[in-house]
Amino acid sequence: MNTVELITAKRNGRELTEEEIRYLVRGFTEGSIPDYQMSAFLMAVYFRGMSRQETIWLTREMKLSGDTADLSQIKGVKIDKHSTGGVGDKTTLIVGPLAAACGVPIAKMSGRGLGFTGGTVDKLESIPGFQTALPVQDFFDQVNGCGIAVIGQTAHIAPADKKIYALRDVTATVENLSLITSSIMSKKLASGSDGILLDVKCGSGAFMKTEEDARQLAELMVEIGKADGKKTMAVITDMEQPLGNAIGNALEVREAIDVLRGQGPRDITELSIELAGRMIWMGEQADSAEEGLAKAGRALRTGAGLEKFREFVAGQGGDPDVTDKNRQDELLPVSPCTRTVTAPRDGYICSMDAMGIGLASQHTGAGRQTKEDSIDHGAGILLHHKAGDQVKEGEPICTLYSSDEARLETAAGEVLRSVQIGDAEPDLSPLIRCVVE
Ligand code: URA
Repeated sequence: MNTVELITAKRNGRELTEEEIRYLVRGFTEGSIPDYQMSAFLMAVYFRGMSRQETIWLTREMKLSGDTADLSQIKGVKIDKHSTGGVGDKTTLIVGPLAAACGVPIAKMSGRGLGFTGGTVDKLESIPGFQTALPVQDFFDQVNGCGIAVIGQTAHIAPADKKIYALRDVTATVENLSLITSSIMSKKLASGSDGILLDVKCGSGAFMKTEEDARQLAELMVEIGKADGKKTMAVITDMEQPLGNAIGNALEVREAIDVLRGQGPRDITELSIELAGRMIWMGEQADSAEEGLAKAGRALRTGAGLEKFREFVAGQGGDPDVTDKNRQDELLPVSPCTRTVTAPRDGYICSMDAMGIGLASQHTGAGRQTKEDSIDHGAGILLHHKAGDQVKEGEPICTLYSSDEARLETAAGEVLRSVQIGDAEPDLSPLIRCVVE
């Protein structure tokens, strides 16, 4: 087989065979196909697309490019959850403990943040002492003992995706249905859980800007998950504006704890119960989604989810007292330089562009520009208002936190560009758009 011929075939819109896709994925992973040829191939895919069948083969080859986690030592029906990426999305920190408190084992591998989106591993590492790199046996023991463990994804899971994603990131080929599907599902299918709940984000702060595109992505991912023998379901949710009020690692940990106390913002509380409820159903701890949602709500109200969070943090080396309001300032970092951004006029906040707010948070130091950048765990944004709220000129919209005073100016400018204020009360889209099963 010849790489140039395969690039030409895709450039001309031909459907590739399973063998041809295998040749490309294996060749690139092993190093016999260079970056420049893979880049050309990815751009051809970007413009020509891939069929459903090609996407299934691509996902399978990427999954088989590394190890497949064997979680058989963990008892019960293990359910994973994945968000396609958003701003202020700290649901794993809430949903994991809620589902685990209801008997669903959570053995999760999570990623770090890049660009304007955050990552669960960075958020957890803002808790002093929290270990996200556990030896395999400790990972299994923690899930069997406490019901939940979250670790960073190892380099052995879907290494083809790691190499391909790094190339997509710098060749403007991220936003393609087949490439996103194969990237996410190859990792999820290699991670070994029995079921996967996908939170497919839709809106300005998501890869998929429209509900139609998000639905297509969700349907393809669900089909591929099921074809691999996993229970798979997707919830399409709004990402026009950030989720919750906190953006930035330690700030998000505080907000997740507030939600588990029953004192969190309404949007993230609603979404967390929806996701946890579905995981409880998928994990066979409820006979229906409705019963799962009721159980998740009860775990929140009774404090069982908060107690599970404390056990989870302690089990991975962190101080469980991060849940104690009186000790949070001492235990969780807060960056020392602050700036309040105020409303430039009276009116209603008609929109709060999630991507812009994510970029502003990145400017404070809470996010990375490149994979090698270090992050400021105490940096970020606390929103005092969201889209739909009425504000007066000069009223605080948000507070920015950074360790570097100079960063606040750029971040504040980005926030002001992201917030539109108008005279009429806006019509906002619902947070939970639909479910794909
Ligand atoms: N997240 C991934 O892991 N891969 C993508 O392609 C997009 C989002």
